[in-house]
Amino acid sequence: MAKKVLITRIIPSIARQLLTKAGFEVTVWEGEGPMTQPQLIERAKKVDALLSLGADKLDKTFFSQCSHLNIIAQFAVGYDNIDVPEATRLGIPVGNTPDVLSEATADVAFGLMIAVSRKMFYLHKTILQGEWKQFEPLKNLGMELTGKTLGIFGFGRIGQVMAQRCMGAYGMQVIYHNRSRNLPAEQKLNARYVSFDELLQQSDVLSVHSVLSAETKGLFNSHAFQKMKPTAIFINTARGGVHNEADLITALQNGIIWGAGLDVTNPEPMQADNPLLAMPQVAVLPHIGSATIEARTGMARLAAENILEFYRHGNVPHCVNPEVLTEKTN
Ligand code: GLV
Repeated sequence: MAKKVLITRIIPSIARQLLTKAGFEVTVWEGEGPMTQPQLIERAKKVDALLSLGADKLDKTFFSQCSHLNIIAQFAVGYDNIDVPEATRLGIPVGNTPDVLSEATADVAFGLMIAVSRKMFYLHKTILQGEWKQFEPLKNLGMELTGKTLGIFGFGRIGQVMAQRCMGAYGMQVIYHNRSRNLPAEQKLNARYVSFDELLQQSDVLSVHSVLSAETKGLFNSHAFQKMKPTAIFINTARGGVHNEADLITALQNGIIWGAGLDVTNPEPMQADNPLLAMPQVAVLPHIGSATIEARTGMARLAAENILEFYRHGNVPHCVNPEVLTEKTN
């Protein structure tokens, strides 16, 4: 009998095409937004595999009713919406889509850094409001990035591409903090491993590229911002939960740090009256890190391939809990 797959939003058609061509019976949720959890559970109960998105809450409640799933293939590199230990306990492999979105996401971090350093989003708004009257010799001044120190928090694929961009464009010195040291990447990018405190103290631009986990949740809070330079720019394109937004607002309002660029907020979506949106040295985007045709197509292909390979060879090419696969083949 054909295996059934549920895709929880409309994503690039390559995913459906690959799965259908391989004989899977594919259902796509075609709603404007994500399903509610009860809707998701009701539909997931009827399928063998789930192609999920970040807005799907795959927690203990979900797994208590969907423990039958063979595989979950997430259409994202991040998977903090999934209780992976619970999936692992149930023997369900969880796939994700790394690499294909690294360039796109690093571009957003890089773009936000420049936009903040020159107050671009804010100054654009002043034109819309009819406030551009004349050339201003002493107003609208930003700061330059050449030769500054870039601190990367989370030195994975996206963090490394961001480092490469900043070195190439501005000759920035790269320091990083990560769960573990990455010696080949250190050599390639002439990067220096530092403690978390040193990262805070030394970075002119501090860019977050980590996962959201119990260890990183709310890590960039008032204590962290206090340790940063008053001229520092904070960039987050990873997950909004890694920073404490109320603390970030206070830090910016009080000149504890200079500016911030966010592609992820806490919570999402950000409300239009959020004080961050009115600040000159802030640039906010609506979680578009992977939003290029190339990246989204690549993500759809990888997510489908994770499912296809699992059923063909018992392998999930990009698996976040590979121990499940080892157990299955032993
Ligand atoms: C997007 O946020 C992703 O995790 O891929």
